[in-house]
Amino acid sequence: MNISVIGAGQMGAGIAQVFAAAGHQVSLVDISQESLARGVKSIDGSLERIVRKGSLTEAERTSTLERITTHTDLGDGVKSADLVIEAATENSELKLKIFAQLSSLAPAAAPLATNTSSISITRIAAATDRPAKVIGMHFMNPVPVMQLVEVIRGYATDDATCKMVMDLSRSLGKTPVEVNDYPGFVANRILMPMLNEAMYALWEGVGGVAEIDTVMKLGMAHPMGPLQLADYIGLDTCLAILNVMKEGFGRAHYQACPLLVNMVTAGKLGRKSGEGFYNYSGGGKDLVV
Ligand code: 3HC
Repeated sequence: MNISVIGAGQMGAGIAQVFAAAGHQVSLVDISQESLARGVKSIDGSLERIVRKGSLTEAERTSTLERITTHTDLGDGVKSADLVIEAATENSELKLKIFAQLSSLAPAAAPLATNTSSISITRIAAATDRPAKVIGMHFMNPVPVMQLVEVIRGYATDDATCKMVMDLSRSLGKTPVEVNDYPGFVANRILMPMLNEAMYALWEGVGGVAEIDTVMKLGMAHPMGPLQLADYIGLDTCLAILNVMKEGFGRAHYQACPLLVNMVTAGKLGRKSGEGFYNYSGGGKDLVV
């Protein structure tokens, strides 16, 4: 199949990688050559890791990369798509604009999927000419490693689109789970309040970064502590998701911790900016808070 992936950030790059590794032709689209180059570099790094583990050969790494073409022009990147997957920044205005453009640029038969973490699929679908073919296909970070794809049906999504996306996810070796369209869906509705609560515990002085993360890692057998995971996801993304849930449900429960708001305002976005609860500038992670 021809898969078009919009956005070459950490999620878009990971999605492009898993489709190309499964033998699909992938068109990766972003607004600048620099973003595309960064995306391809991260795919190459991830493939190299898999080669080192012995589950991919050098020849397969090369052929996977060869199946990915890059585009700065949206029309060019989606013109032959059998499926479009949008993985742009978690910003509703941006996503609505992209989906409105996809209506005229992508082939009429192509389903349009979004990797949104929390924004209403029904609202995104309403910006298009084909609401029945719009669906959520929510991958988890790091995409090549995580087993889950959360498949979200919008109000108008038809059975054929849902079946296609469920089957395709299985063919990538993932486990798709179908859920309905409410803010944060299931994954982030449950995850984000936990990360936010860890930030409140830090802000209120209940424990330090290392203490809070160690309690959750060793006490609950989580692979990462909540503050480390928030840095990994991106603090701006965590804030955007909490705001969508706060607005959608109107419950104080989803009010973002003031420490998170301050850190995002100060440009401390976690791993991607080099600093969040930890400092990543030296390659590893050191405590900063
Ligand atoms: N590409 C390829 N392989 C990768 C990789 C990548 N980007 N990242 C990790 N790996 C592989 C490693 O090679 C290693 O493989 P092996 O076990 O076969 O040797 C394995 O994954 C484990 O990696 P590491 O040994 O380097 O490190 P860890 O054991 O700490 O695992 C982790 C890293 C998989 C990221 C683990 O810490 C983890 O599972 N963390 C939690 C991740 C999580 O919760 N993700 C969901 C976030 S929420 C989300 O995405 C939703 C969004 O909407 C916000």
